[in-house]
Amino acid sequence: METVLSGIRPTGNLHLGNYFGAMRNFLKMQDQYNCYFFIADWHSLTTHPTPGDIHKNIRQVLAEYLACGIDPEKATLYVQSDVPEIAELYLLLNMNAYIGELERTTTFKDKIRKQPDNVNAGLLTYPVLQTADIIIHKATKVPVGKDQEQHVEMARHFARRFNQMYNNDYFPEPHPFDFTGELIKIPGLDGSGKMGKSEGNAVNLADSDKDILKKVSKAKTDSGPTVPNTPPTEEIKNLFTLFSVVSSPDTLAFYKEQYANCSIRYGDMKKQLAEDIIAFVKPIREKIEDIYNNDAYLAKVTKMGREKARESASKTLKDVREIIGFRSF
Ligand code: TRP
Repeated sequence: METVLSGIRPTGNLHLGNYFGAMRNFLKMQDQYNCYFFIADWHSLTTHPTPGDIHKNIRQVLAEYLACGIDPEKATLYVQSDVPEIAELYLLLNMNAYIGELERTTTFKDKIRKQPDNVNAGLLTYPVLQTADIIIHKATKVPVGKDQEQHVEMARHFARRFNQMYNNDYFPEPHPFDFTGELIKIPGLDGSGKMGKSEGNAVNLADSDKDILKKVSKAKTDSGPTVPNTPPTEEIKNLFTLFSVVSSPDTLAFYKEQYANCSIRYGDMKKQLAEDIIAFVKPIREKIEDIYNNDAYLAKVTKMGREKARESASKTLKDVREIIGFRSF
C-alpha cells in the first residue's frame, strides 16, 4: 500500500476552505492509504513563536483534525517534535544539501523579504527538514497545494541524491499528490478568489456565531442586478457557492431566482447565509472545543501517534545508519 504524508505548521485555524478541501481528501485517503498526518512544530520555530502560543496552536490543530474526522486508529496522527528520529535524518541529509540550491528556494527568498531580521539557518534548511519528514516513512504521495510543490520536488532530489551517493534505491521518490482538480473551490468573503488563511477572508471552524455573523455581513456584494437574467457577478457567484455547501438546494434556488428577477435584497440573503453557516459550523466548533479541553484524550492520541511514527521512523534510521557506514561493533 502506498504511503501518504501531510504536514501542517501549527499556526492559525482551519477554515471552511480547508474543511471542504484538504480535509475531505484526508478522510478519503485514510481509508485507502497508509497515512501519516503530523504537526510540523519544528518548522514553526523558524518564525519564533512564544512557548505558550506554540503549545496552544498544536493543541488546536490536533483538536481540529480529530473533530473533522481524522481517525487516529486508521491514520498515524503525530507531533513532529515527538519523533527525534526525524531530527537525526535531517542532520544526515544536511550534509548533501547545497547552500546554493537552498538559497534559490522560492519560499526562502520570500521569507528573507518578510522577516529580514530573522534569516536563520532553520529557514535555509527548511526543505531539508521537510524531506526528512517525508522520506523517513518512505512516503510517495504528498498532498500539497501549489506553494509547496517546490519543496516536494526538492525532497525528490534529495532522496534521489542519497540513493545515488550510496548506490542503492533505498528511498522511493515522493511526488506531490494534487487533488485540487476534484474539489469545489471554496471562495472567500471578499469577492476575490479562494478562501485562505492569510487573505483575511475566511470563516474558521472555530469561529463563534457572532464572528460568523460579522464576517458574512461584511461580505462583498455588487450594486444589484437591474436587467433580468444577467449572469451573477464574481462576488455573488461566490456567495452562491457558499450557499451550495452549507444550505439546502431550495435556499440556493430561491436566491438565484430572486437574483434573476432583480428582486434580491442582499441584506436578507446574507442573514440567511450567516444563519446556515452558523448551523453548519456550530457542531464542529463544539466538537473542537470538547477535544481541545480533553487532556486525557489528547494524551492518548498523541501517545499512539508517537509510537506508530517512531516505529516506522526508527526502522528507516537503522537502515540509513548502516548504509552510511555507521555500523555497530
Ligand atoms: N511546509 C509545509 C507548509 O508550510 C508544512 C510541512 C512540513 C509539510 N513538513 C511537511 C508538508 C512534509 C508536507 C510534507 O505547509
